[in-house]
Amino acid sequence: MSTFTIGGDLEVHRLGYGAMRITGEGIWGPPRDHDAAIAVLRRAVELGIDLIDTADSYGPHVSEELIAEALHPYPDNLVIATKGGLERTGPGQWPRNGRPEHLKAACEGSLRRLKLDRIDLYQLHSPDENVPYAESVGALKELQEEGKIRHIGVSNVSVEQLAEARALVDVVTVQNRYNLIDLEDQDVLDVCDRDHIGFIPWFPLEAGKLSEPGGIVDGVAERHGATTSQVALAWLLQRSPVVLPIPGTGSVEHLEENVGAARLRLADRAVAELDHAAG
Ligand SMILES: NC(=O)c1ccc[n+]([C@@H]2O[C@H](COP(=O)([O-])OP(=O)(O)OC[C@H]3O[C@@H](n4cnc5c(N)ncnc54)[C@H](OP(=O)(O)O)[C@@H]3O)[C@@H](O)[C@H]2O)c1
Repeated sequence: MSTFTIGGDLEVHRLGYGAMRITGEGIWGPPRDHDAAIAVLRRAVELGIDLIDTADSYGPHVSEELIAEALHPYPDNLVIATKGGLERTGPGQWPRNGRPEHLKAACEGSLRRLKLDRIDLYQLHSPDENVPYAESVGALKELQEEGKIRHIGVSNVSVEQLAEARALVDVVTVQNRYNLIDLEDQDVLDVCDRDHIGFIPWFPLEAGKLSEPGGIVDGVAERHGATTSQVALAWLLQRSPVVLPIPGTGSVEHLEENVGAARLRLADRAVAELDHAAG
């Protein structure tokens, strides 16, 4: 598996794991099968995954608590990337809250639940239209100065918002929605690619009709002896060396399949076909 160095000092395998799917329905409450969720997290680390993405809002709190239960004390090389900036008012509801006092309290909560003295990568989950973005980013800057977070990432940002954040702090990763049928944030990826900032595409497996039987992804998968999920991930990995996909799953079987994508090398012709169909 190829690697990427986040922030100049955290080397991780490029295929990570998104821990949003180990909670209950609507990313709310505990998972139906607690032991299965613990098994997925432990298997991820066994398979060599050393970047796990989570957030205080997943559950809320459930994902971070399960990570600590399954994996603490953590292996030295494990990077846990969490986020703050959303509240949870019910299943499927994600109101934004970018007020500095909320972000500081959220970070303290994540430190406590994850049993960490410092969070390796703390991401601002989303800009909040009711709070100047610089104020939200400023809160993360203070947390970094206090030693509570090592590196700062942002999420769900435009090119302009990324530039605004970078004027205040060193932004080492961007986490935006990006997949075979959603290239809306290609301009953000281009900036990350140019400036060697990690780009973490969320919803990486989505390929819509392209992965249906007879679709382009299905055809490429068949020719490569792979699954459609593996093709979607391999395409992302070949798109740019700064791309760090974090497929989410609550199933060990799907996890193992997804990790297999890191060994899949798509032929140039297949990449060209997928590029042509993508968007
Ligand atoms: N920054 C943000 O605003 C934001 C938003 C959304 C997500 N995220 C992060 O991004 C991560 C990934 O996004 P995501 O979970 O929404 O989307 P995803 O990884 O593209 O897809 C996850 C879905 O695909 C299924 N799946 C996983 N592997 C599969 C496989 N091999 N075959 C068939 N189905 C499979 C999962 O179900 P099973 O559980 O049944 O496998 C789940 O329903 C999240 O876990 C989270 O950490 C961030």
